[in-house]
Amino acid sequence: MKTQKISHSVHYVGVNDRRKSLFENQLPLPYGVSYNSYLVVDEKIALIDTVDACYFDVFLKKIETATNGRKVDYLIINHMEPDHSGSIRLIKQQFPNIEIIGNAKTFDMLKGYHGVIDNLFEIKDGEELVLGNTSLQFYLTPMVHWPETMMTYHKQEKILFSGDAFGCFGALDGGVIDTTMNLDKFWGEMRRYYANIVGKYGVPVQNALKKLGGLEVNIICSTHGPVWTAERAKVIDFYDKYSRYEALERGAVIAYGSMYGNTEQMAEAIAAGISAGGVKNIVLHDVSKTDLSFILADVFKYSALVIGSPTYMNELFPGVAMLLHKIEARGIKNRIFAAFGSCTWAGVSVKTMLPWAEKLQWNIVGSAEEKQALKTEKYEECYALGLKIAASLNPSSGGTF
Ligand code: FEO
Repeated sequence: MKTQKISHSVHYVGVNDRRKSLFENQLPLPYGVSYNSYLVVDEKIALIDTVDACYFDVFLKKIETATNGRKVDYLIINHMEPDHSGSIRLIKQQFPNIEIIGNAKTFDMLKGYHGVIDNLFEIKDGEELVLGNTSLQFYLTPMVHWPETMMTYHKQEKILFSGDAFGCFGALDGGVIDTTMNLDKFWGEMRRYYANIVGKYGVPVQNALKKLGGLEVNIICSTHGPVWTAERAKVIDFYDKYSRYEALERGAVIAYGSMYGNTEQMAEAIAAGISAGGVKNIVLHDVSKTDLSFILADVFKYSALVIGSPTYMNELFPGVAMLLHKIEARGIKNRIFAAFGSCTWAGVSVKTMLPWAEKLQWNIVGSAEEKQALKTEKYEECYALGLKIAASLNPSSGGTF
C-alpha cells in the first residue's frame, strides 16, 4: 500500500469513510468523510492522531509502509473525539511501548474512553518534543472542538497539525493535498462542518487564531478533508470570519415549515419581494425536506434570515423549533431577521419567534401573519416585507450589511 508524503518528514496515513451515512449519527455525509492521521518520521517516529476503529486495518497497513517496519515511538493526541481516538487501544497493542503525548484533559478522557493509563507523557502549553532534527511544539487550543483539543507545530517544516480546525466533510478522492485536487465539493462542506461542529465555539476559535497568529505556517494538516497548502490563507480567513459570526455574502435565507402550503406561499411572496429589491442571493429551505445541517450552513453564510412557521399544537412547527434551537445554541450574531407564519384559529408562531430574535439582539425588520389561506392583502404585505428586507441588505440605504 502506498502512502502520500506531505513534506520531507511527514506522511499522510489517514483513511476515507464512504460508508457512514450520518456523522456523529446525525449529520448527513453525501460525499463521505476522511479521518486524517499523520506520521512524522525522524530518528524517532511520532503518529499524530488515529482514525475511526472501523478502518484500523487499512490504517495500520499505511503506518507499516511509511515506517518501513520501524516501531512508532510516540502517539500525539491532538483530539480525543472517537473519530480520531477510536484506534488508540489497537495502536497500543501493536506498539506496546509507545509513549502517549497529551495534556491533563486528554488523559482524563483517555482513561474514561479507552482505559489507558500508562506510558503517558503530559505536556504543557508551548512545550516541545524532539524527534531528531524535528521539533514538535504543542499549543493548547481548548474548545476547538473539545476541552482537551490542542495543535502540534512542526517547527522545521512549518506545518500545523490543527485537529478539527480547518477541517471539512468530504472523503479524499485520490489526492490529499489541496493543489492536487478539484476543491469544489469541499468549500460547501467546510461551511457545513464549521456551522454544525465548531460553530458554537466562536470565542475559542478566535483565541486559537490569536495564539497561533505569530507562527509561520506553510501547510495545515487538519483531521478532516484536504491538506491545505496553496489555499491555507483562504481557510484561515474563512475561520476568522465565521468565528466572528460575520456573514460571507449579502443575501437572505428563508427557512420555513409548512403543513399544507399556506406558510410556504408566504415564503414565496417574501422571496419575490426580496428579489424585486435587487438581491440575488436568496435561498429557500423547507425544514421538513432539507436537513437542518445544510440550513445552518446557509444561516452562517448569509446576512439575513427569514423564518416561517405555522402554529402547530399552540407552538412552533417542530422542525422550525429545532432550527431555532440550533441557531441559539451557536450564538449566531448580527443577522437581519423577519418572521412569518400562518395559523387556523390562534397564531402563536410569530409571537414566539420575534422575542427569540430580540434575545439574540438581531435587527428585526418586520413580520407577517395570516389566518388560514393566503389572501391578496396579506400577499402584498409579505411582498412588501421582502422589499424591506432587501433594503436593509443594501449598504447604500443604511442597511446593516
Ligand atoms: Fe473530528 Fe471533534 O472530531
